[in-house]
Amino acid sequence: LELTQEEQFQARIDADVRIEPKDWMPDAYRKTLIRQISQHAHSELVGMLPEGNWITRAPSLKRKSILLAKVQDEAGHGLYLYSAAETLGASRDQMLADLHSGKAKYSSIFNYPTLSWADMGCVGWLVDGAAILNQVPLCRTSYGPYARAMVRVCKEESFHQRQGFEIMQTLCEGSPEQKAMAQEGLNRWWWPTLMMFGPADADSPNTAQSMNWRIKRFTNDELRQKFVDMMVPQAEFLGLTVPDPNLKWNEAKQGYDFGDVDWEEFWNVVKGNGMCNKERLQARVQAHEEGAWVREAALAHAEKRKQREAV
Ligand code: ACO
Repeated sequence: LELTQEEQFQARIDADVRIEPKDWMPDAYRKTLIRQISQHAHSELVGMLPEGNWITRAPSLKRKSILLAKVQDEAGHGLYLYSAAETLGASRDQMLADLHSGKAKYSSIFNYPTLSWADMGCVGWLVDGAAILNQVPLCRTSYGPYARAMVRVCKEESFHQRQGFEIMQTLCEGSPEQKAMAQEGLNRWWWPTLMMFGPADADSPNTAQSMNWRIKRFTNDELRQKFVDMMVPQAEFLGLTVPDPNLKWNEAKQGYDFGDVDWEEFWNVVKGNGMCNKERLQARVQAHEEGAWVREAALAHAEKRKQREAV
């Protein structure tokens, strides 16, 4: 019995063999990966902005150096991810052009403002917590370069999460005003963080195929449930209240039941109408334009070297 190329490909996936850049792959697999990896890369770059907002206002030298390191890590994650997408034939210039024109998506979470120092705690604790839950399984994603990029990203991401939790813990053990600031942050970040995992499985056009191709190892709803189950005890430990009146332990499923995500708000943010979408894109475009001289200088230098070597 002769297997078609596509059947052979699926058989390799099913046997958990990694797909590498030069291997044959269906066009749709390539396209899905370019879509997901480039959106992921864009999220890392835009993700620098909400926290970048607090670097100059961090409450101590120690907090400032930690925050600086974390934001730099995110730039690095973006670069590994663009490189991974390039192995699939995507052009970095095109990916960036799509981000800057507003055509490409990036994570909804980064379109919310960071209003207080507690937001640095919430971003680390909740947002990076959600990112890790989503990304640890991606270390086993079927495409080799993406899986390998995720290993280092996850190590750095777990440091980010610890530092966020530690900010929250410090605030919660501090003055009543500090504790109130932590609670107010949680109130604003909880629901947008649940939205990071994407639409409910029933409304997710890509999940079924991506699970079949083992690009995704868990569905959106599975990861959202794991997140709630992981975070509720942490919030209790901090003495904070999760802003969901429907949150309730369900003994039978050994997990929490929780309220409905506001999907209208989610799609509104994804479509570009969130609180900070315009500001975020504008900041990226400006950074790119201000970096033009560096790109030109690097090209001129490369040209000069080439000529020198030709002599
Ligand atoms: N923000 C913006 N867009 C989203 C979000 C979100 N939180 N969730 C889903 N979408 C988009 C999808 O990109 C997709 O759009 P497209 O088809 O036009 O490309 C559409 O909504 C439908 O969603 P799904 O069918 O569920 O899409 P998918 O299977 O790609 O799942 C998910 C979405 C879970 C985000 C997946 O792409 C993924 O795991 N990506 C890698 C992780 C990542 O990008 N993390 C970024 C945030 S973490 C960080 O940067 C620190």
